Order: sequence, then structure tokens, then C-alpha cells
Amino acid sequence: MSGRIPEEKIEAIRRSTDIVDVVGDYVQLKKQGRNFFGLCPFHGESTPSFSVAPDKQIYHCFGCGAGGNAFSFLMEIEGYNFIEAVQALGQKAGIELPEIQDNQSSGASSDKEVIYKAHDFLAKLYNHCMVKTPEGSKARDYLKNRGFTEEVIEQFQLGFAPDSWDYATSYLAKRNYPLQKVAEAGLLAKREFDGKYFDRFRNRIMFPISDPKGRPVAFGGRILGEGEPKYLNSPETALFQKGKLLYGFHLTRSAIRMKDQAILLEGYADVITAYGNGVQNVVASLGTALTKDQAKLIRRQTESVVICYDSDKAGISAATRAADELLEAGCYVRIAKMPDGMDPDDYIQTYGAERFEKDVIGAAPTVMAFKMEVFRSGKNLSDEGERIRYIEEVLKEISGLTKAVERDHYLRQLAEEFSLSLDALKQQVFQFHKEGNNKKDKSPPKRDNNARKNFYVKKKLLPAFHNAERILLAYMMRNLDVAEKVQEEVGGSFNIDEHSAIAAYLYSFYAYGHDPDVSQFMEQLTDPNLVKIASELAMMDLNEDVSDKELQDYIRQVLNYPEWIKIEEREKEKKEAEMKHDFVQAAKIAMEILEMKKNLKNSF
Ligand code: UTP
Ligand code: MN
Repeated sequence: MSGRIPEEKIEAIRRSTDIVDVVGDYVQLKKQGRNFFGLCPFHGESTPSFSVAPDKQIYHCFGCGAGGNAFSFLMEIEGYNFIEAVQALGQKAGIELPEIQDNQSSGASSDKEVIYKAHDFLAKLYNHCMVKTPEGSKARDYLKNRGFTEEVIEQFQLGFAPDSWDYATSYLAKRNYPLQKVAEAGLLAKREFDGKYFDRFRNRIMFPISDPKGRPVAFGGRILGEGEPKYLNSPETALFQKGKLLYGFHLTRSAIRMKDQAILLEGYADVITAYGNGVQNVVASLGTALTKDQAKLIRRQTESVVICYDSDKAGISAATRAADELLEAGCYVRIAKMPDGMDPDDYIQTYGAERFEKDVIGAAPTVMAFKMEVFRSGKNLSDEGERIRYIEEVLKEISGLTKAVERDHYLRQLAEEFSLSLDALKQQVFQFHKEGNNKKDKSPPKRDNNARKNFYVKKKLLPAFHNAERILLAYMMRNLDVAEKVQEEVGGSFNIDEHSAIAAYLYSFYAYGHDPDVSQFMEQLTDPNLVKIASELAMMDLNEDVSDKELQDYIRQVLNYPEWIKIEEREKEKKEAEMKHDFVQAAKIAMEILEMKKNLKNSF
């Protein structure tokens, strides 16, 4: 599995890697006892059931069962193969690896590599054009006028695609890039009549769009000055799915974590200006409504989000839709208000970052309060009809709130403001709630609050022999003596196939002279199902020491189980004989059963 990376190198990388750091790049972790917990990046959830054990250097999700070590985490989350994961962690740990021709990578993944490289190459080329060449001067002036500093141009790798049909095309051709593939990725276009390739982005300011690791995977190209379309974006490809990425995320993620707050903006320019002026916990979606995936991505970094979109009609409706997605993902959401006609970029350029943080972000109302203001605007509340319409709109909104305290809070507020009976309002909300559920069949967002608890309950209900096998394996993974003892007495006779397989891997792991190390052990497992089970067993809470007597009990459970099955069958036969009034046969079977029970290993 390890290809041609020497075993010692892998070992060295493993030793200098801390899984908490590795996972921490993707998941916000909180310490709880010995372990860390966070929201599982592999399935949607709003309460953390994903745990990382620094002492064992493994992770396991009690909700979906995902599990493994630092290498398998990267394989799973980044789609790497083993060698790529080792390389990535090696780089992080500063451990040099020999150049490896990766024999696992198929044609498809080397195609992918080419497209990554093409994006990187073009991002640098466009940046060079903007910063260093005469063609770039009008773009430079334009950005300078807009208050973009050299520093942010560098940080965001902004560039300029000159007004030419073959600027990028000829550079790519000179470097032997496969133009057809590059065109398929949306970087070039193809002329119908002669099949020639030409530049897709012309006379545009280029905003590279990067994946979370900072690799450019797409571009947004803004026209210089006025014109249509204002932004030309890369099309969707396997590499670039705009619903899954957030603009600026690779630069801003750590600030979002640190401040434990994300500010969601609308445009590329907004992100850059905010970031450049010290408001760094910002991201933007990519010109489309915020998706569930993007909401989850944000939720994995922080619980607290402030949405700051334009204050026009479109902006308000986009903001409330984004808020709904974020609420569903389990965030606390506020919606900031901008003066009419301004976006965050304009605001910060005009009034500065400090006022932006204090007066716009700091003063942002909750989603509900924001919606109430929206309903109120344009209505004359001293008119009875309009007042009632307003109250109804608000009640409908309240009926959709998931938290009882919140519902109560706004109902009281409403009751007080309009001198209405709280009971009547509650009743109305209940009515709306019922109708809403019937109409949209919209069940409340699933919350697996009890994932961890359910997990234990479920496991407790396993048959005794099954539990015994699990506990034995869990001890065997941690303790060589136990493993040797079990190997001698049980060998391959585990009753569950997966358990047998894990035991066999363990025997061979120790036979190679390894010390107990669950993280290293899990690497031997090629079957993802075995990895899941092993990570779960590794996370089991066990006493440090296990007495011989206890071990013997478990071993007996395992060995006796097949006998018990036979005994049960015989019992059934005995009953059948009795039903047929064949008492001689029944007595004979009863004797056999007695004998079988006596012969059970170390009978109870
Ligand atoms: P805006 O029109 O608000 O642009 O679109 P902006 O970011 O403020 O840009 P400037 O300040 O005029 O330079 C907001 C976002 O919507 C997407 C882009 O992601 C943009 O940043 N968009 C807009 C497009 O994808 N295509 C368009 O034609 C327009
Ligand atoms: Mn703008």
C-alpha cells in the first residue's frame, strides 16, 4: 500500500504528525476530557459526534462510523491516495521525500493534475501581466483607484487578462499544455469554424478562486469598467463546483476560527477590501445563492455568522435565504444592514474598517429582528389592516423558529408592542406551525443530539458473545500480552467475520515486531469497513488493566458461542419431538443437550 515511500519515512512522518492539527485544519475541535470533539466533516450533523483521540492518534465519528488515522483522514477528505496523503503530511512536517512516480494515479488523476497546474500557471501569468507589464497598467490604475493595495493584489493573486485573443493560449501552447483539456476546464474557448483555441478571458481583472488548500481551481473575470457580463466566471467542472467553495476561504479560515465568527459577504471585491483592512474573518459565495454545502463548510469553522449583503431588495431576499440555510446548518445568524446603495467594499473604503465592525457588524440584528424590520418597512402600522397584516407575517415567521425560547421572546415582544393577549398569539403560531407542516411537509431539521448516546445504547444491546469479541479486540489492539493470549486460545475462531479479519491483521502486525499502536495498525487495513470497526473499537472506553479472570470470561463467550447455537437447535428439536408426543426421542435429545452443556469449555 505504501508504494515506494520507504517505511522509515512513513514512520517518521507519522511520529511528527499530530492528528489534532491535521483534523483541526478542517474541523473546529473542542477539548472534552481526553479527546477532542467537533462536527463530522463526512456527514451532516449539528451536534458534534466526531471525536479525535490524541493519545491514540486516531479519529472516529460516533454518528456515521468514519474513522482512521491522519493519513486516512486526508485520503477521505481530500480524495488523496495513500502516497499523496503521506506527501502532504511529510510536507507539513518538513520531511523530505524522494520524488515518487505515483503508480496508483490513473489517467484521470493526472488529467486533474494538469488542470491544477494550468490554473496555477495562468494565475501567475495574469498576476505578472497586471503587476509588471505595460499592458497591465490600466488594470493597475483601476485597482489603485478602488483602493486595492499591492499587498492584497499579492495575497489574492489578482491579475489582468489583456485584451488579446491569444495571450494565455500562446503561453499555454508554448508550455505544452493540452489545449483541449484546458479549454474543457473553461480557461480557453474554441472557435467553431476551424477548431482553434483562443483566450476566453479578455480585458478582465482576474480573481483566482481557490480551493480550501489555496490551489486556484477557477477564475472570476471582471470587466474593466462597464460592460456585460460584469463578471465572467469559469464553468462548473469536476475540479470546480461553485456550490462547494467559498471565495477567500483558504486565506480567512484561521481568522474565522480565531474570532469564532464568520462574516458572509456577497462579492469578491467585498472580501478583498475587508481582508485588506483587517476584517479577515470574511467569505463570499460565488455569485449564487448560498448552498447547503457552503453553510456546512462555514458551520464547521464557527457557530456564529453575520450576513452582510447589499441592502437593496435583491440583497435582502438573498440574505434571508442564506440565513435560512445557515440556521438549518445549526448556526446563530445575524443580518447586518448597509446604508442604501452601498456594499461592504464601498462602506469600508468610505468609513473605514473600525466603523464597519462596530456600526454594521456589531449592530447586526438577529434574523428574526431583521425580518420584522423588513415586514414593517413600507407599512403604516397605525392603519389597522396593515397592522394586522404585519402581525400575521411576523407570527408566520415565529412559527418557523425551532427554539422555544426564541418563539417565546418574540411573541412577548409582539404582545407587548400591540397590546395583544399572549395566549391568542401562541394559539395562532401553533395554527401556522401545523399548516406549515402539512403544506410543505417540512419536518423540523433533523438534529442527532443523541448520536453518541444512541450509539452506546445500541451497542449495549448486542448479544454477549458479540460484545465479548469487541472487547477482546479492543484490548488486543492496545496490549501485546492480551493479543498473544487470545491468539493462543481463540486464534481465528471469532464468530463475526470482520472480527476474525481484524484479529488476523493484528496477529500479523505483532508478528512483524510492531508495538501496539492503533493508528499504525489501522493503516494495514485495506477494507474501509474494517477501518470503521477498528476505529470504533479503538475509541472504546476500557479499564487500563484487565484481569485474567475477565479475559477468560470473554474468551469463553467467544469459544462457546458455536456450541450454544447447536444446543439451541437441539432444544428446538426436543420441543418438536414433545409436540409430536415422541417422548422417547425427546428424552434422548435432552440427554445429549446435557452432555453438550457439560462439554462447554470451562463450563459456567
Ligand atoms: P456585484 O455586482 O455586487 O459585484 O456582485 P461586486 O463584487 O460588488 O463587484 P464590483 O464592486 O462592482 O467590482 C456580487 C458578486 O456576484 C457575482 C460575483 O461573485 C460578484 O462578486 N457576480 C456578479 C457574477 O458572478 N456575475 C456577474 O455578472 C455579477
Ligand atoms: Mn462592489
